[in-house]
Order: sequence, then C-alpha cells, then structure tokens
Amino acid sequence: MKISSVGLTKLCFLLSVSVCIIVFLLGPWRQHGLSNPQPVLACNVTCSRSHREARLEITRLPHPLHNQTNPSQEWRRDHTKFLGDTGQRGDLHSSKRLELKDLFIAVKTTKKYHRSRVGLLLQTWISQAKEQTFIFTDSEDQELRQKAESQIVNTNCSAVHTRQALCCKMSVEYDKFVLSSKKWFCHLDDDNYLNLRALLDLLSAFPHNTDVYVGRPSLDHPVETLDKVKGDGSTSLKFWFATGGAGFCISRGLALKMSPWASMGNFINTAEKVRLPDDCTIGYIIEGLLEVKMQHSNLFHSHLENLQGLPQNSLLQQVTLSYGGPENRRNVVRIAGAFSLEQDPTRFKTIHCLLYPETSWCPQKKSLSLI
Ligand SMILES: *[C@@H]1O[C@H](CO)[C@@H](O)[C@H](O)[C@H]1NC(C)=O
Ligand SMILES: *[C@@H]1O[C@H](CO)[C@@H](O)[C@H](O)[C@H]1NC(C)=O
Repeated sequence: MKISSVGLTKLCFLLSVSVCIIVFLLGPWRQHGLSNPQPVLACNVTCSRSHREARLEITRLPHPLHNQTNPSQEWRRDHTKFLGDTGQRGDLHSSKRLELKDLFIAVKTTKKYHRSRVGLLLQTWISQAKEQTFIFTDSEDQELRQKAESQIVNTNCSAVHTRQALCCKMSVEYDKFVLSSKKWFCHLDDDNYLNLRALLDLLSAFPHNTDVYVGRPSLDHPVETLDKVKGDGSTSLKFWFATGGAGFCISRGLALKMSPWASMGNFINTAEKVRLPDDCTIGYIIEGLLEVKMQHSNLFHSHLENLQGLPQNSLLQQVTLSYGGPENRRNVVRIAGAFSLEQDPTRFKTIHCLLYPETSWCPQKKSLSLI
C-alpha cells in the first residue's frame, strides 16, 4: 500500500514535469510559427523585380499604425524589451545623450532629382544638419555644388535605377562613413524628411557600444535566400531587412564588422553574389552573416505606405516621413500649418515650420495670430 502510494506520487511528479517541458518547448515554437507564416521569398530571382513585388505586397497590408493609438509607445515597449534583454539599462542613464555631430547621414539621389527633391531637403531639414549630411549622387551639377559645396559626393556610379547602380552608391556611402569618425551611419532617400530630434531620441536610447541596425522592416516576414557567401549555396539563410526608402541606421561597431562584405567595393561583390538589392543586401550581411538582429521600428516611413493614415498628433514624433511619387501625388501626411497643399504639396515645409518655427521663411507666429 505504502509502496504504491509513493509510486503514485512519483508518477504524478514525473507527469507534471513532462507537461511542463512540453508546454515550455511548445510555447516559443508556436509563437515562432505564428509570427512567420510565409517565410519564403525567392529574392535571388531577378531581384529588383521580386523586391518591387514585395514592396507592392506591403502597400496592400493594413498600415501598422492604424491599429495603434500611439506608435511611439509601441516602439518604446519593444525598445524597453530590447534594453531589458541586454541587461544594460543602467548604462542608458550614465551614457551621455547623442549629439548631431555623432551622426553621418547619407542621402541617396540621382541627377534627375537635384533641383526638385534635393532642393527641398536642403531648404528644410538638411539646413539643420549641414556638417553631417552628405548627398550621394551620380553626376556633377554646378548649381547644386554652389548650394551645398562639400556636402555633395559624386559617386561616379551609373544613373540608371538598377540593382548594380544602387549598390554602387551604397558602397561609396559605406566607405565614406568608415573614413569619418562618426558613431552612427544613417541612410536616407531623397524623398525623406528626417526629424533630427526624433532620430537622436531614438538612437540615444540604445545602450552604448551595442551592435544596432534599426529601421522599418520591408516585409511582414523574413526573406529567405540561399547562402552563397558564407556557405556553398546549399543551405538557406533567413533574415529581415530595413527598407531603404524609409531610411535606416547602423551603429559604428556593427558597420565595422560588416567590412569583409562591405568595404572597398566588396559591397557590390556581395550584392552580385546573392543578387539582392542594396537594402536587402545590408540585411543579409547583418542578420544573415553577422547574426545581429535588426531592431524593428515603425517610426520610419517610405512613400510606399499609406502616409495619409498617420495620426496627426504623432507626426512630429516620427523619425522619417515621405511623400507619394508622381503616380500617387495625394499620398502625403495630413497636417495643417503654415502652407496650403498647393504651396507645399509634399507637406515637408509645413512639418519643418512646426519643428523649427524660427526659420526665416516660415510665417511668423505674430502674423499668424493676426489672421
Ligand atoms: C534562384 O534560386 C533557385 C533555387 O532556389 C535557382 O534554381 C535559380 O537558378 C536561382 N536564380 C538565380 C537567378 O540565381
Ligand atoms: C569620381 O570621379 C572624380 C573625377 O575623376 C573624382 O575626383 C572623384 O573622387 C570620384 N568619386 C569617387 C567617389 O570615387
């Protein structure tokens, strides 16, 4: 009688332990399965095309901000988790806040957009970050040189919009960043408004000296491609990447680790080997080869999103904004302010005057109150 009751207790104990183990093993697996429902994207096949398709796919997705009351809070929640995981929260308070001079900001453009797009950026946010912003283009332009002298970098890359030409510019951006002594590399397109304060807030919150790659995921699932760089092409790699059209940033330490695949023109070779577009190749090197996780942020925005859907009261907290191209002119952020839609079709001037009301060409508060 006694023996069997001991046996029963043992059995119960063993049973509960195995249930615990099963639940423990099943939990993360189920979560993983749920968050990555369709992981395969053949990014190697005529990559620029599949990339464009992927982007079209994302424009059809519901905008992540639609379901949230406060996007920056959502980000902070994720962010706190990240800080908690590294156990370096204390460091956050002791490390001093980043300053503009710690940044290297690369803006990618092409001859066609010097006057329209780059002109607007020089007039707005670049005017507040002249020293650290460089404009990477593909041809000499006296008019642009006069406006922005040493900030212009002629990459001598081709002006066509192919994967090779875009990778060529990214390669020059990377090399110029490495030569600078800046702490952060941020890449932007010529249709992005960069909110410098929001960017500094975001980057300052990362623990000092950790490897950071932060931006907006291009897809709702990771890309999968054959590993032709580290392996022999028989195994596959899964990775997330930040969409270049929304802008992204990389910490210096991490950028230096990318060097074998990215420096001195190697970036072009890597992109050729894996047949990926420029931003996709960055993700491939960082997540796929270096195994550093990308930090997902919804504070970065490209022209492929529904920009009209961004809540007005959160616009000045976003890190980047954009505007619809010629095929979608009405896709701009909704904001009331100094300029009408006719005067300021991209809304960048209006945003800029709200962030920097002291700017000479912004209507003065006084005259506004008289109206
Ligand atoms: C892409 O990968 C598949 C195998 O997954 C291969 O059959 C195909 O040839 C590759 N295409 C290119 C353009 O490399
Ligand atoms: C592009 O070519 C010009 C003229 O040859 C040269 O001065 C410049 O350094 C080149 N730019 C880069 C990024 O190599």
